[in-house]
Amino acid sequence: MGNKTLGVFSFEPITNYATGLNVERASLRDAYDIHEIINYFADEGEMLHRTIDEINQNINDFVVVKNKTGNLIATAALHKLDDKLGEIKGVAVKENWQGKGVGSILIQSCLQDALKLGINEIFVLTNKPEFYNKMGFSLSNVTKFPIKIWSECIGCSKFFSCNEIIMSIDIDPN
Ligand SMILES: CC(C)(COP(=O)(O)OP(=O)(O)OC[C@H]1O[C@@H](n2cnc3c(N)ncnc32)[C@H](O)[C@@H]1OP(=O)(O)O)[C@@H](O)C(=O)NCCC(=O)NCCS
Repeated sequence: MGNKTLGVFSFEPITNYATGLNVERASLRDAYDIHEIINYFADEGEMLHRTIDEINQNINDFVVVKNKTGNLIATAALHKLDDKLGEIKGVAVKENWQGKGVGSILIQSCLQDALKLGINEIFVLTNKPEFYNKMGFSLSNVTKFPIKIWSECIGCSKFFSCNEIIMSIDIDPN
């Protein structure tokens, strides 16, 4: 697969042999590991908890990164909200793998998937703006997005003390 440059991005092939890491579409066999990593960081207050049922039902949204021995070290999901709009969610890299470019690989993979799906705007609700800024996202305005993007906020324990902001990136295949 050739590289495709979009703005600040140079999309690498999906398998990063240079570092011995594999980026794969998740399968149902990965669901428990995805559940564990997401809920580990959710317990730390970094992201929303997900049930195993939610993960199973949305397994096609997830990508996973596995190390040489096949252990899952990171995950992220791209959720399509409508024909043109997608959300990146559930981004988590195991602590001992952070700061090595794995998060960047995940985001690039989600953006590649978005391109294939014809999505041209991706948003994130995040408490890590510096990370997403490095990925080319910029601060956005909540009012430009459909109200359904807040559906998960209703049941969130941080509803009245939310520390997340909305950031987005436009990807235009032309
Ligand atoms: C946030 C997270 C996904 C980043 O993954 P990572 O693999 O450590 O990120 P990378 O190594 O690919 O970093 C890419 C760039 O972002 C920067 N960056 C990453 N996390 C950052 C942070 N918390 N604050 C500031 N910059 C950050 C890196 O310094 C790097 O910059 P560089 O290209 O100039 O060197 C990871 O720390 C994580 O899983 N955290 C816990 C769960 C979480 O908070 N998820 C996000 C919820 S919105």
